[in-house]
Amino acid sequence: MAIQINSDRLLRELEILAAFSDVPPPAVTRVVYSDADMNARAWFVDQCKAVGLRVRADAIGNIFVRLQGTAPDLPAIATGSHIDAIPFAGKYDGTVGVLGGLEALRAIRESGLRVRRSIELIIFTAEEPTRFGIGCFGSRLLTGALPVSADESLRDSEGRSLFELRTSAGYQGTIESVLLPNNSYAGFVELHIEQGPLLEQEQIPIGIVTDIAAPAGLRISVEGEGGHAGAVLMPYRKDALCAAAEIVLAIERSALTTEEIDTCATVGKCEIFPGAVNSIPSKVLLEADVRDINENRRNHVLSEIRRACSEVAAARGVSISLETVNADAPAKSSPQIIKTVADAAHELGLHYKKMVSRAYHDSLFMSQITEICMIFIPCKGGVSHRPDEFASAHDIANGTRVLAETLMRLAQ
Ligand code: GLV
Ligand code: MN
Ligand code: MN
Repeated sequence: MAIQINSDRLLRELEILAAFSDVPPPAVTRVVYSDADMNARAWFVDQCKAVGLRVRADAIGNIFVRLQGTAPDLPAIATGSHIDAIPFAGKYDGTVGVLGGLEALRAIRESGLRVRRSIELIIFTAEEPTRFGIGCFGSRLLTGALPVSADESLRDSEGRSLFELRTSAGYQGTIESVLLPNNSYAGFVELHIEQGPLLEQEQIPIGIVTDIAAPAGLRISVEGEGGHAGAVLMPYRKDALCAAAEIVLAIERSALTTEEIDTCATVGKCEIFPGAVNSIPSKVLLEADVRDINENRRNHVLSEIRRACSEVAAARGVSISLETVNADAPAKSSPQIIKTVADAAHELGLHYKKMVSRAYHDSLFMSQITEICMIFIPCKGGVSHRPDEFASAHDIANGTRVLAETLMRLAQ
């Protein structure tokens, strides 16, 4: 008999979680270690404890919720995602995998079936790069993909270090203790909204992720010369924003000229100093995001951007420094777990499609320590990272059923 999930409970919890936000609904902003994030975490932990699940948090606030198996010494099967949300996001990105994961754990337990391996739900700290400028820092640190020096070197825009922020949030302990011991997990499966349009367009309820595209992040600082907007005449300027504008267009071009639909490049942040209408911009900071499922092609785009920066610096007499914040490898799903998810979907009478994830996820880093796979569900119009992000109750329930069935099979 299939595991029975309680989709009313799950939907109610998604609504409650969305209310922990720094902006009015339907938008959600929940930046790591903000009051909204800390209150959401406290509420979530209460839900887990209320049903008798064991909960622990590590020294950066990654949260682990464990359903004990009959062979607790065997590596566990893990699932999970994130609850932080970028500014003016929607309510389903990450949260569906967290609350769907909790529902799957409860449903497995309520089914009365015994699992051999323990099943662990992980809520990763800060999948989104909003605060520290780097995505997935929770899963990066867990898996050793980020050095422990990040405790001091990762800083938010106000200059506060990870150490300072995590300890004020109540997460004490050494940064070294965050690293997971070898063989902690025998597999990891993440449920997530697709964040793209394909499942909806093709009316397919379940996506099985075979590959996750390789992301990279760049920080570009352009320094020119400021001055009076009327008194410094045009031939004598070194306007940092005009130089930055050329770089922004060069970044767009660098992706377009691969002529591959899988290459994306975005400048999502631009800070202008001093930021006054009658003052020539003296300094501009840009943050860019470059992705491709083909790592070599992604790296080629990065070198094209570097070349464009040198050309603009020479032509405009400004100085440009470029920092590669991250340039990660793509990930492949495990053929065995892909098959387990496919079998689970088939058993539940749900069509599925194998597909690539163009967004990154904590699964990208979990793939460095265990076998992974992801389950996608449709989202309306493929919209994500926007307040109007939407996934239907029906699709959320289907994804959660497939997740529960998959975890059960992997844990047996
Ligand atoms: C994750 O949020 C991403 O930007 O892919
Ligand atoms: Mn996101
Ligand atoms: Mn996400």
